[in-house]
Amino acid sequence: MKDSVRIGFIGYGNMAQAIAQGLIKTQSVRPEDIYCCAKNYEKLCINAQRDGINACQNPEQTVRNSDVVVVAVKPYLVREVCQPISQLLREKIVVSVAAGCPFESYEEFLVPGTHHISTIPNTPVRVGEGIFVCENRHSLTEEDLEIFRRIFSPIAMIQLVEPKLLDIAGTISGCGPAFVSLFLEALGDAGVLHGLPRALAYQLAGQMVAGTGKLMVQSQAHPGVMKDAVCSPGGTTIVGVAALERGGLRSAVIEAVNAVQNK
Ligand SMILES: NC(=O)c1ccc[n+]([C@@H]2O[C@H](COP(=O)([O-])OP(=O)(O)OC[C@H]3O[C@@H](n4cnc5c(N)ncnc54)[C@H](OP(=O)(O)O)[C@@H]3O)[C@@H](O)[C@H]2O)c1
Repeated sequence: MKDSVRIGFIGYGNMAQAIAQGLIKTQSVRPEDIYCCAKNYEKLCINAQRDGINACQNPEQTVRNSDVVVVAVKPYLVREVCQPISQLLREKIVVSVAAGCPFESYEEFLVPGTHHISTIPNTPVRVGEGIFVCENRHSLTEEDLEIFRRIFSPIAMIQLVEPKLLDIAGTISGCGPAFVSLFLEALGDAGVLHGLPRALAYQLAGQMVAGTGKLMVQSQAHPGVMKDAVCSPGGTTIVGVAALERGGLRSAVIEAVNAVQNK
């Protein structure tokens, strides 16, 4: 496959736009090499023009123009949208980002031998700090996988997991941004309660979470050790930690993940 890979998005909603904008921002893919389609063509044209990418009339046109095809419609539409173009998809690298659509479900309607992989990305791909959780059961060749990594590793950590772990890994990474945003908003409110301008409170909270996450991933420190490093005996931070424990923060987080898994 040539150096400059053309990438097509079937569905150009929140997730696809986050991925495309991340790819453009990190110069992983040139905007003129990105194609997309959606249900509402007029709305699509506005979004595509904003991002400098090519709007297509339908999935067929998108696939014909692409080497790598990202399936980014809602999970319940995946089969309906992909089945009519399955012959065309046989010639491409197909990357699913639809939650709850593993390799096995695509095998039911894609043409045998189609090169495809099921993934769950998260929205921080937009700023090059995302995660692509990928099922390690896939039909990509070594060369396909190399292309996949080349395109997406500038915007995300790529983690391959066993099929049975795809859902829970996707919940932690894919739903996590919503959970963390609640925490960020609460920190912002607390800052405002004590006199901080709201914008500054959010800036501080956002950078604090980004930095703490990076510190943990890069140093591979246990989160308990990181917490202990901030809590001096009889100090102020431990008073806040005790208040969070009284409020049931850990239990609330675990229950949130449970609720997603049991839906
Ligand atoms: N959002 C996340 O954080 C996240 C995280 C991980 C995985 N995902 C997965 O990403 C996928 C998309 O989610 P989303 O949040 O981006 O949803 P979304 O914002 O609703 O986007 C869905 C897109 O699909 C388009 N579409 C609908 N019917 C179509 C058709 N027949 N042909 C072509 N395109 C069609 C929609 O077009 P119109 O706008 O014109 O209707 C829209 O552009 C889902 O499968 C979801 O599980 C999302």
